[in-house]
Amino acid sequence: MRPVKVGLLGLGTVGTGVVRIVEGHQEDLQTQVGSPIMIEKVLVQNKSKSRNISISPDKLTEDPWEIIRHPEIDVIVEVMGGIEHTKEYILEALSLGKHVVTANKDLMALHGAEILAKAQEHRCDVLYEASVAGGIPIIRTLVEGFSSDRITKIMGIVNGTTNYILTKMSQEGASYADVLKEAQELGYAEADPTSDVEGLDAARKMTILSTLGFRSNVALEDVSAQGISSVSKEDILYAKRLGYELKLLGIAERQDDQISVSVQPTMVKKSHPIASVNGVFNAVYVYGEAVGETMFYGAGAGELPTATSIVADLVAVVKNLKLGVNGKQGAVAYKEKKLKTDEQ
Ligand code: NDP
Ligand code: HSE
Repeated sequence: MRPVKVGLLGLGTVGTGVVRIVEGHQEDLQTQVGSPIMIEKVLVQNKSKSRNISISPDKLTEDPWEIIRHPEIDVIVEVMGGIEHTKEYILEALSLGKHVVTANKDLMALHGAEILAKAQEHRCDVLYEASVAGGIPIIRTLVEGFSSDRITKIMGIVNGTTNYILTKMSQEGASYADVLKEAQELGYAEADPTSDVEGLDAARKMTILSTLGFRSNVALEDVSAQGISSVSKEDILYAKRLGYELKLLGIAERQDDQISVSVQPTMVKKSHPIASVNGVFNAVYVYGEAVGETMFYGAGAGELPTATSIVADLVAVVKNLKLGVNGKQGAVAYKEKKLKTDEQ
């Protein structure tokens, strides 16, 4: 089979990791899919910016359409972030029959249904494993691993930046502002870190997880979100003295078909495994009626962990190409959700 050609939108933290893994693991990837995977073109905002990866300058472009409409590109990997441009590019790519892999939870939480419907219409794959919990394959696990069970609770730490901040404040007495700056320098935070610290990033991820886990159309506006910007060192120390760790938790529950989803700073008993999830690590606890308790743990952000999820999606797309079954995951007809209200 001819090489599979990839158009990469974005060469920041995650895009750089994708190039490193595709190049560094090329032999392993080829063994799995039977053909080379090549990054053909890369979209950036500024071609002359200095980069911490060496890439041939003629691969770089500032023109998105040169990639989206490139006749030889089979798969678009979107790791540039933002909503408006990315939605336009992805919908156009799908209408041209290109498969899409994205890390964009903002986009998938808001416009996932429209994008998946477009994908199905054009028999294309849209995979977005990296959009939740970085390197933990939680989306695949919910969709495939739990397909035989009925999930009643999904709970966890799904934002690396805030867990990094809370951990450093708790363990080192560091200041909120200093650690936020560190998380930005390490590439964990969003371009606008307000969405991390105000709980919106976690709310977007919980929207995706609860939609998939409960097989219901949960919307971002259904998720109540509170972040950590008003958490003080004193709050953290007080919680510790009482035997708790303060964590930003996403909690999604289903009871008698009624769903509630929220994100808020929560006191977690030190004996609970989630209390020991530190730094940029995430953990997602899933309760299934038949299986009982399960928990998934790993790096929730950062260059290489996030890129592993992207490249795993890429491998899945290429395997589907070989089998001629792309687009089969398409838009699932989820149930209309019933939200649990405060009065109930
Ligand atoms: P960065 O800000 O590090 O990189 C963004 C890249 O996209 C840059 O290369 C930038 O170009 C390019 N870009 C941005 N806007 C445009 C535009 N309008 N036109 C052309 N190029 C553009 O982001 P990250 O790599 O951190 O994140 C990318 C995506 O992955 C986001 O959706 C994020 O939420 C998601 N994500 C990030 C994780 C992480 O750990 N960082 C983890 C999981 C998901 P240039 O380099 O020239 O500035
Ligand atoms: N800003 C996000 C986080 C990136 O810190 O979790 C990973 O989605």
